[in-house]
Amino acid sequence: MEVPILKQGEFLIATIQAALSDADLEHLRMALIQRVVRFRSRAVIVDVTAMDVMDSFASRTLKEIAQMIRLRGAETVIVGIALRVISPRFAYVTMLRAISELARNIVTYAKRGEITLSALAESGRRGIRIVASDQGPGIADIRQALRDGFSTSGSFGLGLPGVRRLMDEFEISSASGQGTTVMVKKWRQERPEK
Ligand SMILES: Nc1ncnc2c1ncn2[C@@H]1O[C@H](COP(=O)(O)OP(=O)(O)OP(=O)(O)O)[C@@H](O)[C@H]1O
Ligand SMILES: [Mg+2]
Repeated sequence: MEVPILKQGEFLIATIQAALSDADLEHLRMALIQRVVRFRSRAVIVDVTAMDVMDSFASRTLKEIAQMIRLRGAETVIVGIALRVISPRFAYVTMLRAISELARNIVTYAKRGEITLSALAESGRRGIRIVASDQGPGIADIRQALRDGFSTSGSFGLGLPGVRRLMDEFEISSASGQGTTVMVKKWRQERPEK
């Protein structure tokens, strides 16, 4: 079973859709590294949501993939979202977009950082929290950074304001020289039982 690898600008997104054999993992490793070199990608997002078992071979291979990708100058972000928590496909795509924008900012401005996902259950509603944090240069003027079209890298300046619009809750803390932490939450849209 081949893993589809999507190219999105400077990013590659590999979505593992089912359990993989050892040979499939080897194939994924080769395919990702080839593409990172060919497209000069800056980061690779590997979505492991659909892998219900992560055995030691799989986790070792993913770690090796991340190391080999780093040697080629790119970073790897491994994400897994419990589908039972955000079942509507819409929300799933929304989460991936938010993760990819936040990851892109970390790679562009801070070089390294961390993204953590967690499941939320509060007073009967369920959702997902994403926290993206880095120890990079920080943002001197947060209000300016949240404005549509503001960019210090000559890009579109739509990342942060876009993530803010996509999510239900958005918090950012940063200061010059202090690193940046963005925390967002998306609540599951409950559908009435049929
Ligand atoms: N993690 C970060 N560390 C330091 N500065 C950041 C970080 N994330 C965003 N910024 C600053 O905030 C600005 C706005 O970010 P935003 O993601 O909205 O736009 P962009 O990255 O410039 O362009 P786009 O995301 O549309 O390609 C950036 O240009 C950068 O100056
Ligand atoms: Mg951005």
